[in-house]
Amino acid sequence: MLRRAAPAIQRVGPSGRAKISQASPDSRLFPIVRDLVVRDSSCAGPILIELAPSILSADFAHLADQVERATAGGASVIHVDIMDGHFVPNLTIGPPVVKSLRQATRLPLDCHLMIENPDEYIAAFAESGADWISVHQEVCRHLNRTLNLIKSHDCRAGVVVNPATPVETLSEVLDIVDYVLVMSVNPGFGGQKFIPETLGKIRKLADIRAQRGYAYRIEIDGGVALDTINEVVRAGTEILVAGNAVFGKGDPRQNAAALLEAAKSASLQRV
Ligand code: DX5
Ligand code: ZN
Repeated sequence: MLRRAAPAIQRVGPSGRAKISQASPDSRLFPIVRDLVVRDSSCAGPILIELAPSILSADFAHLADQVERATAGGASVIHVDIMDGHFVPNLTIGPPVVKSLRQATRLPLDCHLMIENPDEYIAAFAESGADWISVHQEVCRHLNRTLNLIKSHDCRAGVVVNPATPVETLSEVLDIVDYVLVMSVNPGFGGQKFIPETLGKIRKLADIRAQRGYAYRIEIDGGVALDTINEVVRAGTEILVAGNAVFGKGDPRQNAAALLEAAKSASLQRV
């Protein structure tokens, strides 16, 4: 069954739920995002480009402040990287930190699970305040079941593919996912070099969505910075995860604003 095409304007509120609206997005919360609703000539209607800073590169001793600064710069989603030391060679955080973050921001929390056996932890993340939960195709034996489990907790369900995983492996779940996350580095660490070959998957996902009338959004993660954002946006990405480029050095507010400005210019160049 085909899902309806993207709405005329996607308004993303603090809960992370996209709402159909004729009004502009809340200019107090999303001052720059408002300007990033652009017309996409390759698809049916306007798209919304959002910046999702990854806290992986933030100063964890001052997490609330770091998130607040990035939000002031126009970030509208907070990306939270969960690593288990098995699926990826690194360990990060779990539900307690998500719970604390939930108290510190009204923005949607986009929890990227880089863990094995994600089904065992989905309830804990949802109860801690995750709004969006994504799982890797590579670890899910029963991907349809896992995505429906995320939805049963009233969270947006995303599926992630590593650089070596083709989008064709997602063919049978694209009608039920809310977003697809394309890894543009091998997951595990922040500050890695962008892999440009992954952009072909962004284009492919945009084409499939247009052909089949699906409604998922397209997110990218890894190596997004001022020197790569132009090609990332022009390929059709809508949700831009950036860790090092926001929190690595300097002021997260200025960094976020600069990235969104660059995204805006790139979106105007799309052909
Ligand atoms: C990598 C993580 C990313 C990472 C991105 O495994 O999933 O979210 O934080 O960091 P940058 O933007 O520094 O490449
Ligand atoms: Zn991530």
